Amino acid sequence: MRGSNARRSRRAVLWSGLVTLAFAAAACATNAPQDALKPVGPVAKQEDNLFRPVFWIAVAVFVLVEGGLIYLCARFRRRSDNDAPKQIHGNKRLEILWTILPAALLAGIAIPVVITIFDVAAKPVGSNVIHVKLTGHQWWWQYEYTDFKTPQGTTLKTANELVIPTGRWVYLSMTSADVIHSYWVPKLSGKQDVIPNRTTYLKLRSDVPGVFRGQCAEFCALSHANMRLRVIVEAPSDFDRWVAGQLLPAAAPSDPIAMARLTATCFACHNIGGVPGSQGALIGPDLTHFGSRTSFAGSMFEMTPENIAAWLRDPPGVKPGVPIGEPGGTMMPNYHLSQAEIDALVAYLINLK
Ligand code: CUA
Repeated sequence: MRGSNARRSRRAVLWSGLVTLAFAAAACATNAPQDALKPVGPVAKQEDNLFRPVFWIAVAVFVLVEGGLIYLCARFRRRSDNDAPKQIHGNKRLEILWTILPAALLAGIAIPVVITIFDVAAKPVGSNVIHVKLTGHQWWWQYEYTDFKTPQGTTLKTANELVIPTGRWVYLSMTSADVIHSYWVPKLSGKQDVIPNRTTYLKLRSDVPGVFRGQCAEFCALSHANMRLRVIVEAPSDFDRWVAGQLLPAAAPSDPIAMARLTATCFACHNIGGVPGSQGALIGPDLTHFGSRTSFAGSMFEMTPENIAAWLRDPPGVKPGVPIGEPGGTMMPNYHLSQAEIDALVAYLINLK
């Protein structure tokens, strides 16, 4: 009997050790583009500066409390059947001490926490701030740069990839077209919920160029894990060039096969600014400068002809989701395009720079 108990407790120790090791090993990824512990942007850095001291204070409290508990359990354990400890009731000095100490500690932590909350929430002001209206969709992101307009008065629109210049604040006004999402670029900023019928705000900035990955951080059904995003930070002159390019109209396809399919199907949901027949519809991503992006479909796929072809052949086949036309459908259905149509559309879309 005693032997089997010992074996059982040995096995419990072994399993808990293995599970702890598995969790620890999961944190050892060498390529971790979404590592919040290596912040780059000022907001992420400020949050990290708060997190680290609070974490070590929590570690100290944990070690002291659990260590004391284990020590007391061992020191005052019952050693024999007639070994009852001294019976006492209350200790005023101790009780005052363990009430005041944690209260003082929490009050001390509250000061930097409250300062950080207000700093992070403060709206950036000045003519240098870039304003972007963000809309979450199942499962992609729409950006409208309200500061930049075409001569016809249409705002600059793009999808999934937020292009920004170094050194300027970007202020996102966010809402959702369907369910609750959450916008999170771990190296630049904290996460913020994106909620239907409500506007939430998030600011971010990076002083160095680079590509920063992020993703939806609120479960939003089938392709939640495929609702990714990129923030592409460029030098100011490159950004200005990007803006100028995005504001130009797109050319219509020269191939009549592509034009016919755009008119018959695509323009019902997508906009390609400047192409006759495009109505400005934004049920799906704006495709005006589709080929200038590095990824598509919620940044799930790299922008390659093969990936675009696979997508056009069967969208729900390569990205799980309910197609429009079915109850609750939100994503592009399979239109059973012919190979000639797929080839024509791929050739056109990849060159929409
Ligand atoms: Cu959108 Cu999860």
